[in-house]
Amino acid sequence: MCGIVGYTGNNSALSPVIEGLRKLEYRGYDSAGIALPIAIGKPLFIEKRAGKLKKLEDALAKTPDAKSGIGHTRWATHGGPTDTNAHPHLDNEGKLALIHNGIIENYVQLRSQLEKRGHKFKSETDTESVVHLLSDARKENNGDLAAAMRQVCQQLKGSFTLLAIHSDNPSHIVGARRNSPLVVGVGNGENFLASDVAAFIAHTKTALELGQDEVVEITPTSVVVTNLSGQVVKPNQFEISWDAKAAERGGFSHFMLKEIYEQPKAIADTLLGRLDGLDVKIKFKKFEKIVIIACGTAYNAGLVGKYAIEKWGQIPVDVELASEYRYREPSLDKKTLVIPISQSGETMDTLMALRYAKSMGATIFSVCNTNGSTIGRESDAVLYTHAGPEIAVASTKAFATQLIAMYLIGLEIGRQLEHLNSKKCKEIIKELTQLPAKVEQVLETVEPLRELTRKFKSADSVLFLGRYTGYPTVLEGALKLKELAYMHAEGFAGGELKHGPIALIDNGTPVVAIMPTKDSVLAGKMASNIQEVKARGAVVIAISEDEFAGADHLIRIPKVDPLLQPVLAVVPLQVIAYEMAVARGNDVDQPRNLAKSVTVE
Ligand code: G6P
Repeated sequence: MCGIVGYTGNNSALSPVIEGLRKLEYRGYDSAGIALPIAIGKPLFIEKRAGKLKKLEDALAKTPDAKSGIGHTRWATHGGPTDTNAHPHLDNEGKLALIHNGIIENYVQLRSQLEKRGHKFKSETDTESVVHLLSDARKENNGDLAAAMRQVCQQLKGSFTLLAIHSDNPSHIVGARRNSPLVVGVGNGENFLASDVAAFIAHTKTALELGQDEVVEITPTSVVVTNLSGQVVKPNQFEISWDAKAAERGGFSHFMLKEIYEQPKAIADTLLGRLDGLDVKIKFKKFEKIVIIACGTAYNAGLVGKYAIEKWGQIPVDVELASEYRYREPSLDKKTLVIPISQSGETMDTLMALRYAKSMGATIFSVCNTNGSTIGRESDAVLYTHAGPEIAVASTKAFATQLIAMYLIGLEIGRQLEHLNSKKCKEIIKELTQLPAKVEQVLETVEPLRELTRKFKSADSVLFLGRYTGYPTVLEGALKLKELAYMHAEGFAGGELKHGPIALIDNGTPVVAIMPTKDSVLAGKMASNIQEVKARGAVVIAISEDEFAGADHLIRIPKVDPLLQPVLAVVPLQVIAYEMAVARGNDVDQPRNLAKSVTVE
């Protein structure tokens, strides 16, 4: 949903801005641009290109040097992905540049007022209105860009992170945020602004969080944050625990593959120090109901969370699509605990559902991966997953750690509400502790699956079947395949098949089925479901803990408590999606039309 970087310091700005954009490309990658003040009071140097960041980099071969600059990578909302619509946008003198993440909802009115005042527009974007507005406001405020930004923010409706730079004061960058992310990286003789800490962790690990409707000014040696009334605000400082190397691809061909292989460590890190009690103190006794709100992959993790919390904690749990939740005016009150799950901590749908729940008196206990993110900041308590930076757009290790967070919450509730005795707790803890090694085992055996997957690369459609926790797992498997391979893929509960979806089965349709453990009553039922699809021509790949002769291909995974099976069973599904995307020649890390962090509704 657009990535934003600003740099001001003693070094050349080009490299930290481009490096930062590379780290943020997951947020949008349909066009990119940069603005550099190369001479005081003269028009800014601007380069912008439709397409991936590489196109911009190629165009920047002979770029003049500057000690400050702003850069943007775009996920188009208003106006197609063209050179002209790419950011930065300029005022009519070409001396003021602005980049934006979010949506300005009142841009049509603003644009017509500005045009009447003689401003000339070049693009179809909502952003361009803001740069013209800012230009006028700067003049009204005698060249004070921060004062102008505060004035302009009060006229804007919608969500935004804005960064602006003017060639009259080239080392000074001004930013503002409402509902979209912006963090400050505090360096030594240099400072950074970015949508996400990944953009600057190679340079500094000290960061500042910005609150809602705050304006920040950076120079190489100062950071000043004010609210929209101009009062100085003390931002919350935090140290980034992520390793800069974690945001590099290492020896892997794609970030996604690297992240799949990082799952054992991510799981171990998320479990660390939490098995005997959560590091976040919440008294679960006062809640009568739990509502999990999330989108995409995080929603699928929430579905597994429901199974764990209801079984171990015995509290009713609803899992809701965040984008739908607030619009049906659901009933909730202070006896409701709302758990938003979000890797980025910035998903607008989830944030808005959170705010709705908060306004109704619910307690918010979020599960996030990104420190300093808006969802974390606006929650009463946060359980951080320790997946580290996830760069590939399709989520893998973040999903695994979201599952772990759900199990930890279920365990804690079971313990606090005394539904789990100490023997059962010990059994669960033992199973959880063994998960990293078991995922490692799965990863060691997936190689044949890669070859097998390639055989199905021309299939029209792939269906996924699961029961119990296998059901949310196959929803995630189908989502991964859609995102990456651009194939029709759907996940079904095995028992639901006969109620309609079986009509989709044709000769040769690949069906991926997750087998419940053979000790479960569902094992026989799933075996029958597999017979039903095979009888109609399907080719079945079964993922199973046990020997199973009923499928065409068998992928074995280690034995595990059925509630925890998704952690293991999802790994082959991730590999299938990855391999299918490679076989079909798709961009694995940056699938078409998607963005990792969706900060618009
Ligand atoms: C986007 C991504 C998905 C992700 C979803 C929720 O749609 O493409 O991969 O699952 O957002 O993201 P979050 O950061 O809230 O977990």
